[in-house]
Amino acid sequence: MMACEVIPASRSAEQAAKRVANELGLPLASSYAHAVAPVALVVDTHEVWLQALEKPRPGRVTIDFSSPDMLYRRKSGHNEPLGRAVGVKKDLKPRVFDATAGLGRDAFVLADLGCNVELSEASPVLFFLLTHAKQTALLSAQTKVVDAAQRMTISRGDSAQRSLAGFDVIYLDPMFPDRSKSAAVKKDLATVQALLENDATGEQGAALLDWALSQPVGRVVIKRPAKSPYLGGMKPSHAISGKTVRFDVLVRPNAKGEL
Ligand SMILES: C[S@@+](CC[C@H](N)C(=O)[O-])C[C@H]1O[C@@H](n2cnc3c(N)ncnc32)[C@H](O)[C@@H]1O
Repeated sequence: MMACEVIPASRSAEQAAKRVANELGLPLASSYAHAVAPVALVVDTHEVWLQALEKPRPGRVTIDFSSPDMLYRRKSGHNEPLGRAVGVKKDLKPRVFDATAGLGRDAFVLADLGCNVELSEASPVLFFLLTHAKQTALLSAQTKVVDAAQRMTISRGDSAQRSLAGFDVIYLDPMFPDRSKSAAVKKDLATVQALLENDATGEQGAALLDWALSQPVGRVVIKRPAKSPYLGGMKPSHAISGKTVRFDVLVRPNAKGEL
């Protein structure tokens, strides 16, 4: 079974939904009642979102860089550990390759801190949502949101196939196997997991780390749950711990990159 179907939000969105289904090579369902996949990509005339179809139905998952949630992340201290891990300073804004873009939240925080960020995402559905979110952000009334969106480039495909040049940092936030069992799992990540039919072994994350360490960057930063083991068993140069997450920082002084 396909993990995702496209559904029009209303009759006026039927043509748009058809176009998106064709573009992404996904089946089209006429309504929630006719959908059989675990997750739907819902297309409205101006909005798109993910909807898990289990019952009771959880809330929709949107990517909205001007949302109150993102505003909170920008204003609160949440961002500091991520910025420190990547090496942001007043006069130094590293160029970051986010190899696991997902819903783009970490990447947006980094762009908001002044970094140029490439968001690389393997899932065509998430790539589509990210691209839509960036276009919407570019039209925002908030200058800071527009500025951050301008620093973001979005690309589709397997990051591990890329040969990078011109980046200082690779940022990795792979799905981890125990996330789905944790009470702290956010509903939106659970929906993303259902969409991706989750990498249950964690091997993809370790393979991505091997690839990252072969690239000419001065730093690799890995986001992990606060108490989880190091990705691939690789001890970091240092770690920056928050309440629920930890950023493992591998500094590579002999590799290229400014850091
Ligand atoms: C946990 S999510 C990242 C969440 C993200 N940090 C955020 O702030 O929204 C992991 C994402 O990495 C993507 N991914 C995993 N392996 C990848 C690869 N080799 N290339 C590109 N994307 C990959 C998955 O499709 C998934 O969307």
